[in-house]
Amino acid sequence: MNELPAGWSVEWREEVDSTNERLRKEPSHHGRVIVADRQLAGRGRRGAPWHSVPGESLTFSVFLKPSAPIALWPRLSLAAGLALAETLERLGYAPGIKWPNDVWLGGRKLAGILVESSDDGAIIGMGLNLNDRDFPDALEATSLALEDGREWEREEVLGMLLPRIDGWSRRIDGGFAEIVSGVGQRCVLTGERVRLRTPAGETEGVVRGIGGSGGLLLDRGGEVSELIQADEVRVVG
Ligand code: BTN
Repeated sequence: MNELPAGWSVEWREEVDSTNERLRKEPSHHGRVIVADRQLAGRGRRGAPWHSVPGESLTFSVFLKPSAPIALWPRLSLAAGLALAETLERLGYAPGIKWPNDVWLGGRKLAGILVESSDDGAIIGMGLNLNDRDFPDALEATSLALEDGREWEREEVLGMLLPRIDGWSRRIDGGFAEIVSGVGQRCVLTGERVRLRTPAGETEGVVRGIGGSGGLLLDRGGEVSELIQADEVRVVG
């Protein structure tokens, strides 16, 4: 495994409820990482369960105490997505980022990111499909092994990923423009007509990229606005 960022630590657990939950419940320091072979209650966004075959995927969470104001912590999703996309590129893949927090490969979901806050910090949880080969069709998921048959050691991928998470997570305040640019270059939604849910209800439009605040630039009849909070983004063709 690559050298860890200064002060960071990694714990490997055979079985936990959820790596995010462990970091939320246990006293944690900046850079504490928990990796699990198996999660009994892995969770995704919007309260959905997150399933993965034990040992075949990289499921982990990082606890951070960002120096940026708490209002900016949601930007950690973009920082983590960019860190993962860059890591995959180093491994020879061509991933895309499906705003706000999925990483895709070949038109399918390869990884999901769940950022949560606890009493005294932020938790970035990531589930990355490495060697899994069997997904229900409805999940529209993929893994690195399904892409090209190669099998990856979790330690190796994690070792490349953590320094990038460290680096980009420091830039969610000063330096955020670089994150926006990196995500924008890789955004799989750009140019697509999408339907999505916002706090104000369902809406539809054509994606023009990522805005300066990290939101989705949506063109509705020639009027472009930046949507910061949106979910369930579906391409409607
Ligand atoms: C999503 O796409 O909905 C986000 C999925 C996040 C899953 C990861 S797996 C490690 C960490 N622990 C959890 O319980 N969830 C995240």
